[in-house]
Amino acid sequence: MYNGQGLFARAASDRGARVTGVDIDADAVRQAATAVPEGTFLVRHAQDPPPGPFDVVAAVQLLMHVSDPVAVLRRAGRVGGVVAATVWGRDRECDLRVLQEALAPSRPGRGPAVSEPARLRAMAERAGLVVERLEEVSVPFDYADDDELLDPLLATPVGRSAARRADPDALRATVLEALEPYRTGNGAYRLQNLFRVLVARPA
Ligand SMILES: C[S@@+](CC[C@H](N)C(=O)[O-])C[C@H]1O[C@@H](n2cnc3c(N)ncnc32)[C@H](O)[C@@H]1O
Repeated sequence: MYNGQGLFARAASDRGARVTGVDIDADAVRQAATAVPEGTFLVRHAQDPPPGPFDVVAAVQLLMHVSDPVAVLRRAGRVGGVVAATVWGRDRECDLRVLQEALAPSRPGRGPAVSEPARLRAMAERAGLVVERLEEVSVPFDYADDDELLDPLLATPVGRSAARRADPDALRATVLEALEPYRTGNGAYRLQNLFRVLVARPA
């Protein structure tokens, strides 16, 4: 699986899976190894997974970050009996786009590639996989207050880049204004998002 900070790896291990995780980012690998000390974590490109074989290869929120999602899916199908991938829904299906728009209004959105279900299915088929399920899951993001939302946001690469271009207080005010419709009361926020989940097997 492609590990990020290891949340999914932790959940899989807790359910009895023997976990191997890879990520191209050494920090992410370190964080995952801390979260799941019993797992194996490697700095590796998603197109070069360990040989396995694995019962399941899971790509959680990975495919929109790689230059060749078909190649990643093809390699996953060579080492895994099941390939499971989650991706963001279309921009209009994800309230989180509001944050991107507030921080980088001139930057184009993520585009239709893997967020468009027909495209995702076609990519999996081109990768030699048989699609068993392609489902939608509602994934609300909840934030207790302004700081819980803003601090991690401004620490992301997009947030840091926006902070270099703008006055910090003005930037916070811009983001909070864009988020006004998503306030739920008591200073909290809820952003409704949609993930697509693909489950496939090698043909
Ligand atoms: C949005 S994060 C998702 C992380 C994790 N799966 C999660 O859900 O928390 C995307 C991850 O993909 C990793 N990544 C991007 N390109 C990659 C590549 N070519 N090979 C392996 N990992 C990659 C990034 O380093 C980052 O940790």
